[in-house]
Amino acid sequence: MYTLSKPTPCEQYVADHILLSKKQTTFWKQFPSGEQYVRLLHIEKRALVIGRTWGKPGNLWGTLLLLDTLKRNGIGDTTLVLPYFAYARQDRQRLSGEPLSGVCIAQLLACAGANRILTLDLHSERVQKASPIPVKSISFLEPLARALQEHLKGISDFTVIAPDKGARKKAYAFARALKHEKQCAWIEKERDPYTGMLKERGLHGSRKNTTAILVDDMLDTGGTICESVHFLKKHGFKKFYLCITHPLFSNNALTRISSLGFKRIFVSDTIPLRKKIARFPILQIVPSGPALVKAISTVQLPRK
Ligand code: R5P
Repeated sequence: MYTLSKPTPCEQYVADHILLSKKQTTFWKQFPSGEQYVRLLHIEKRALVIGRTWGKPGNLWGTLLLLDTLKRNGIGDTTLVLPYFAYARQDRQRLSGEPLSGVCIAQLLACAGANRILTLDLHSERVQKASPIPVKSISFLEPLARALQEHLKGISDFTVIAPDKGARKKAYAFARALKHEKQCAWIEKERDPYTGMLKERGLHGSRKNTTAILVDDMLDTGGTICESVHFLKKHGFKKFYLCITHPLFSNNALTRISSLGFKRIFVSDTIPLRKKIARFPILQIVPSGPALVKAISTVQLPRK
């Protein structure tokens, strides 16, 4: 089991629960230029790597370097665990001249030495289909739903709402996990491919217009959620909860979100939060480590 240097809390949890001994398996250092160096201190027959594709480019580069090092040292079977698979949103070429970033990342990881990837709530099935190696995405909806349920304490007049068509399946699965599968709706909207501006077109599904539980795979700038809340307020919703797997919280997302009047926000720790965000009083972090450990120990991933 191998990690990058300075593991995040989620990575550390997985390492602590998967590693049979506390033996350090890698030695990392950074040259003054910022370039990274890794040496394996322990060579296993099969490897489990927890990598990163989010944040600074050094994260992806460290992951590639580690995978390549394992391959060059004779390890021919490597499972890569990516708590958050970044770049998966760019999964189709809507305009000519655009990349397929998620597929590009999967190809790089495969080329460096990953034989399969395990991740949580991958944004797009298209990336899975086009990846040269198997990519298994585990749902994090159950742990989020459990955390929310403890907070709802019997409130049942809610509607689970997907902020866009892409999140529809997730919202229905979430409503099922809350045992209220009939109370689910989704917002139809259009995004201008040039400006990224969103325009709502309608609200579909069965609903009770009181409490809205918004569910999405990620929160980046907060734009999608802001627009959705404003739209739902116009439709008569009064109370709001938010459940998000990957909390990117870029730019001033926290400021935008904090003005919306959420009762509570649930996020995982797949991406470590800046202190200011983690301390936000209504934010509850649901650890993703246990779900990853369970998936690692039970999921047999096929070779492609
Ligand atoms: C879009 O398809 C995703 O599921 C998220 O809704 C979106 O990427 C969130 O980004 P932002 O917070 O910047 O609107």
